[in-house]
Amino acid sequence: MLASDYFIQFSQRLSGHPKEEHQAIFKELLHYHKIHSNGNWHELTIEDNLIAKIEEQLIALNTHKPLQYVLGIAPFYNIDIKVSEHTLIPRPETEELVHFILEENKGNTLHVLDIGTGSGCIPVTLLKNRQQWTALGVDIDEKALKIALLNAKEHKISPRVAFEKMDVLRENFNLKDVSILVSNPPYISESEKAMMTKTVLDFEPEKALFADTGDPLIFYRRIAKEMTTQKYGGKAYFEINPIYAEEIITIFQSFNPTLLRDMQQKNRFLCIS
Ligand SMILES: C[S@@+](CC[C@H](N)C(=O)[O-])C[C@H]1O[C@@H](n2cnc3c(N)ncnc32)[C@H](O)[C@@H]1O
Repeated sequence: MLASDYFIQFSQRLSGHPKEEHQAIFKELLHYHKIHSNGNWHELTIEDNLIAKIEEQLIALNTHKPLQYVLGIAPFYNIDIKVSEHTLIPRPETEELVHFILEENKGNTLHVLDIGTGSGCIPVTLLKNRQQWTALGVDIDEKALKIALLNAKEHKISPRVAFEKMDVLRENFNLKDVSILVSNPPYISESEKAMMTKTVLDFEPEKALFADTGDPLIFYRRIAKEMTTQKYGGKAYFEINPIYAEEIITIFQSFNPTLLRDMQQKNRFLCIS
């Protein structure tokens, strides 16, 4: 069948996604199935067995499941990252955080600690772009760490990265030998829930979004406490909730932090460098 003919049927049955996104979603599905065109995908012929696979994905998309979870892959910075229902879908803001770190740090042998690593998108991308860096990613969720390991393997950086199950609110993490501490911890407050889409609330892991204790700044407080106790002298980069920027600055006051804005001009990152 001609892709353009099948697309008409696909689009008529795809629900819960704005009409203007249908083509992009369809092209993403073709790309996932390794059907590439030079822009003119309409003229491609797609076989019945491929249509059957796309039909299954259409059913999943109609439950409002995000495309990245349906495919098990999310584009991140300059690579594809595997994701599952146990990992957050990496956000464009986190790509910006990775970009700042890479721009500011060109040194050869740096060691990164990523707290709340999830899919491992941060350390995997950093190490993919810096051939001699090493990293440790820690997370409370064992199933997320399995995905992180797969990502490290896929991008051939396994020998330089380790992942460890750790509850950073209750266990001690060692900052000795760390040159770059990075964290995009859960930072959404319960009060913001009402403004979030059903797609995020129904499908993304709750413990990746919300700090479970009711204090959305608990991870920053905990990390700052360890940095102080262990007299941390390295660099640190945090993704933050813009609505708490001033409070987070206060938490890290003694480390002389700076705020950086994201592409939407929101105070999204706190850097100690
Ligand atoms: C906002 S997600 C960030 C994931 C990934 N680093 C990214 O940027 O896409 C926060 C991560 O922190 C993890 N997390 C939540 N509570 C934790 C805890 N007490 N100790 C360690 N990790 C925790 C979650 O499982 C989740 O993977």
